[in-house]
Amino acid sequence: MTGISVIGLGKLGACSAACFAAKGYEVIGVDTKTDYVNAVNNGKAPVCEPRLQEIIDKAGNRLKATHSYRDAMEKSDVTFLIVPTPSKENGHFSNKYMFSALEPLAEALKNSSKAYHLFVITSTVSPGSTDELLIPLIERLSGRKLNEGFGVCYNPEFIALGSVITHFLNPDMVLIGESNEYAGRILEDIYHKVCENSPYMARMSIVSAEITKISLNSYITMKISYANTLANICENIPGADIDDISGALGADRRISPYYIRGGLGFGGPCFPRDNRAFTAFAAKNGVDAKLAKTTDEVNKFQVDHLIDLVMENVNGAEDVSVSILGAAYKPDTPVIEESPAIAIINELLEKNIMVNVYDPLAAENVRAIYGDKVYCSTSVRECIENSSICIVATHADEFKAIDESYFINSHTTVIDCWRVLDPLRLGNKVKHIAIGKSFDRECFSFTNG
Ligand SMILES: NC(=O)c1ccc[n+]([C@@H]2O[C@H](COP(=O)([O-])OP(=O)(O)OC[C@H]3O[C@@H](n4cnc5c(N)ncnc54)[C@H](O)[C@@H]3O)[C@@H](O)[C@H]2O)c1
Repeated sequence: MTGISVIGLGKLGACSAACFAAKGYEVIGVDTKTDYVNAVNNGKAPVCEPRLQEIIDKAGNRLKATHSYRDAMEKSDVTFLIVPTPSKENGHFSNKYMFSALEPLAEALKNSSKAYHLFVITSTVSPGSTDELLIPLIERLSGRKLNEGFGVCYNPEFIALGSVITHFLNPDMVLIGESNEYAGRILEDIYHKVCENSPYMARMSIVSAEITKISLNSYITMKISYANTLANICENIPGADIDDISGALGADRRISPYYIRGGLGFGGPCFPRDNRAFTAFAAKNGVDAKLAKTTDEVNKFQVDHLIDLVMENVNGAEDVSVSILGAAYKPDTPVIEESPAIAIINELLEKNIMVNVYDPLAAENVRAIYGDKVYCSTSVRECIENSSICIVATHADEFKAIDESYFINSHTTVIDCWRVLDPLRLGNKVKHIAIGKSFDRECFSFTNG
């Protein structure tokens, strides 16, 4: 069976490596972080992701890790590169980590006696990068010619943190940009063995796959922003309900039910930056991507809209404390990168409003940014019992249990961004504002309450 190496054992790489190994491949992972390498060699998950430990346990001795690129090259036929590609100021992705991994790998290939090696670029790159920069680098340092001594595929993943394993094993589509048919076939065979469903195999040129990757995410952000605008409109119309409307819209196959829920904006390590990269890529090719730009603006507006709602309900009172349930950009992940909740916290602190946060997975990341400027509670109850205003920022299942017994203040306003709470269980001391539904504009007076 083909040997696989995975360079970068982070949020996506660790899960990919573990899944390949659990499905029977001999896998060797490489990371610059010693604790990640040690964790994998000790059979432990190097990052926090649901089901990752279970899959590592299943992989057993087939999954190993090292710092040595030479070892990885010698012990594998196919190398997946899953290193960070941070966004630059101009919206394009930086290739610096990609270069730092590809250089030693290409040098190791030069000194290897093997006839062929397949490089699979999984990291998100700007369209054109693989053909214009990465392949020439491998050719120069390995002394080999593309499609003779090595092949290249561009194979990004469409996964959401918190569901990486499930999405990896059951993708809607496997996107394969290939340097030639042979390279693409090797990769397609791997996915046939690894996937638990029968995904659509989208095989195409490398540059088409690079464009597909950012276009897909940019399109989804547009859909989310559309739903959020619809939710904003519904709030102003008595009787209008975003859930009823998006349920009906989603039943139409041309729209589909996903990502039209309406609520807070999008965040995380992919959507915002992929959408900005789409704008930058379009501009580089002489096109003004107005939809993508507006999507970004609408997304920022969702935070402003929420802050306006908070301030309306603060109603001039001093010493108001706001509790925020969920700091990560979505449930089941510690990742707070471009999280709307973090943008909200920043705005509230700017206005000298006390902030109390509950998000057990993300608490450490929140503390790393704010220190003692923000209090991190250890339970939902502790977080909200004394707050004047509570923002439910993610749709974590845990929040569904909230009822009137959670609140001890005489008045609390709850801003429920995803409509997870049952208003009938909140009693009459709580004013429930559901984003996307009309609500009573009358506010509590915290000064007197
Ligand atoms: N996380 C996601 O949800 C997701 C989804 C789709 C695509 N991606 C893309 O995948 C890539 C990786 O993302 P991630 O979230 O896993 O990043 P990450 O930061 O969690 O992990 C990257 C890992 O690569 C390691 N690394 C950096 N340089 C290295 C080198 N030269 N050699 C070996 N290891 C090196 C880092 O130490 C780190 O552990 C990015 O391009 C990202 O855009 C991520």
